[in-house]
Amino acid sequence: MDHLNELLASRSHSRSDIAFLLGLSCPDAALSLESAALKSTLARMGPGVSTRGLIEFSNLCTCNCLYCGIRRANQGVQRYWLDEDEVLENALWCAEAGYGSVVLQAGERRDPAFIDYLTRCVTRIRKESVSATLPQGLGITLSVGEQSPETYQRWFDAGAHRYLLRIESANPRLFSAIHPPEQQWSRRVRCLESLKAIGWQLGTGVLIGLPGQTLDDLAGDILFFRELDCDMIGMGPWLATPDTPMQGQDRLSRAELLRRALNMIAVTRLLLPDVNIASTTALEALSPRGRELGLRAGANVIMPNVTSPRVRALYQLYPDKPGLNQDRGESRASLEALLASCGREPRWNQWGDSLHARRH
Ligand code: 5AD
Repeated sequence: MDHLNELLASRSHSRSDIAFLLGLSCPDAALSLESAALKSTLARMGPGVSTRGLIEFSNLCTCNCLYCGIRRANQGVQRYWLDEDEVLENALWCAEAGYGSVVLQAGERRDPAFIDYLTRCVTRIRKESVSATLPQGLGITLSVGEQSPETYQRWFDAGAHRYLLRIESANPRLFSAIHPPEQQWSRRVRCLESLKAIGWQLGTGVLIGLPGQTLDDLAGDILFFRELDCDMIGMGPWLATPDTPMQGQDRLSRAELLRRALNMIAVTRLLLPDVNIASTTALEALSPRGRELGLRAGANVIMPNVTSPRVRALYQLYPDKPGLNQDRGESRASLEALLASCGREPRWNQWGDSLHARRH
């Protein structure tokens, strides 16, 4: 315990210290880790939790990631595409509900029609969401994968300012094990660098509990986040999805996977005290209390799903996706109750940029 307390109080951690912290499994030790991370979060950012309405606007995808339920090769998936007006309706609902930001997420496409469509969505959302409570309109985060620097520039100029692109694993070998050969780790890194150079607030993240992934790999992931100087982190457990090549490859129990994911949030918080960390929906697929546990371990962002219920079930990256039938008004009420139950406060009507981004 002395060694643990020293590590929790320390300001500089070696890779093996990080791996040690990530591997904590006895309940007392894991609780000490989470408490230290929560303390750091509250000291630096206070009890406020930022909200972003998540709009999953299309499940059409040109990629074939081996873990993903909407991969191109999955012919059993009914593909959908929300039209501009429906995306706008979802976004304006968020503005009314007090979620000061939205995340537009979809499968990956690079064709001109897609690029033009998303440019129009961004322009309209920024313009039409302006109100007395949101004088600058909604903050917009995009999460639509690898694109050319010109495309990233175009969407930035249209008014989006945060981008989420997970590296999935900072270990290039592990990355190649879970992607087809045409998807390359080095290109993903170039995309992240290009986003940064353009001025986007940058988010990345990894999958936790991948086959063959060691604690040392996860320690490398956290060092990668720091090296990249990213502003936001969204990471979650890998959930073995039926009808994907990685089906049946999971080795950790749900409890072990949840522990590992929470440790990952907590240690990331200790090493990167001023970034935004999302308590992701995938955590809730492991436990009904998943998102609350994420907040208790150092997360400070929640992304409630506001996608039209009509298509929500078709965007299943992983099985047991929570909230498939939940009405967005009910989901807002349960979010408020959840935050109140753990002594946190929603930061309504704010973009909620990370302290790290505001430092620049
Ligand atoms: N389990 C957990 N997360 C997944 N993602 C895709 N498939 C799965 C899965 N089976 C995550 C990826 C991607 C993000 C949009 O969803 O990390 O970056």
